[in-house]
Amino acid sequence: MKILGINGSPKGAKSQTLRLVKAALDGARKAGAEIELVDVCKLNIRYCIACGACYLKGTCIHDDDFHTLLEKMIASEGMIWGSPVYIDSVTAQLKTVIDRMADTIHCQLFLGKYGCAVSTSGSSGEKVVVEYLNRTFIKFGGSAVGGVGVAIGQDPHAIYAAEKKAHDLGKMLVEARRTKRHYPEQEAYRLMFRARFKYVLEAHKEEWASEYRYWKNAGWL
Ligand SMILES: Cc1cc2nc3c(=O)[nH]c(=O)nc-3n(C[C@H](O)[C@H](O)[C@H](O)COP(=O)(O)O)c2cc1C
Repeated sequence: MKILGINGSPKGAKSQTLRLVKAALDGARKAGAEIELVDVCKLNIRYCIACGACYLKGTCIHDDDFHTLLEKMIASEGMIWGSPVYIDSVTAQLKTVIDRMADTIHCQLFLGKYGCAVSTSGSSGEKVVVEYLNRTFIKFGGSAVGGVGVAIGQDPHAIYAAEKKAHDLGKMLVEARRTKRHYPEQEAYRLMFRARFKYVLEAHKEEWASEYRYWKNAGWL
C-alpha cells in the first residue's frame, strides 16, 4: 500500500507541520505501508487559469510539476495532507495545487482512496485547515479518516503530543484503507454530488467533453 505525504509549508526542514506529516507517515510505515513525502513548495506549479482544457481534453495546458504530483496521488492508496495556517487558511502553495484539481473533483478521481490531514498554527485556525483539507479530499471522491491540528505559539512543546497523535493517525489511515472502512456520511455526500453534478455535465457536454466521456464510461450517466 502506497501512502503519500504532502506538505504545504515553505519552511522546508524547519517546518513544524512537516513534523506532523512525517510522524503520520512513520505510523503508516509501521502499519506496513510504503511511504513517500512531497514538499509542494519545492515544485514548480503554476496557477490554474480557468481555461477549461482539463474539462474538455482531460489534460492541463501547463507543462510543470503538477502532472508528476497528480500521478503520484493517483498511484497512492492513501494520502496525508499537511499545511500550516496562513491567515485562517492553507498556504498559497498548497491552494495552488488544489485549484489545479477541479477535474479531479468532477471525475471523482480519488474514489477508493483514504486520506487524513494535519496542521499547525501560531494560535488558531488549525482545526479549520484540517477540516478544509479533509472536506476537499472527500470532494475529490476519497474518504477522510481524521486529522490532527495543533497551536504551538504559546506552547511549543504541544508539538510532541501532536506528533504522537499524528503517528496514530497514520496507522489508522492504513488500517482504514486495508479494511475499506465505511464512512456513511461521506458516501452519502458522494452520491449527492453524483446525482447533482450529472445535470451540470449534461448542460456542458460539448465544452466538458472529456469529463462527459469519463462519466459515460463509468456508467454514471
Ligand atoms: C504568512 C503567515 C500567516 C500566518 N497566519 C496565521 C494565522 O492566521 N493564525 C495563526 O494562528 N498562525 C498563523 N501563522 C503562524 C503559522 O501558522 C505557524 O507558525 C505554523 O506552525 C507554521 O508552520 P510551519 O513551520 O510548518 O511552516 C502564520 C504564519 C505566516 C508566515
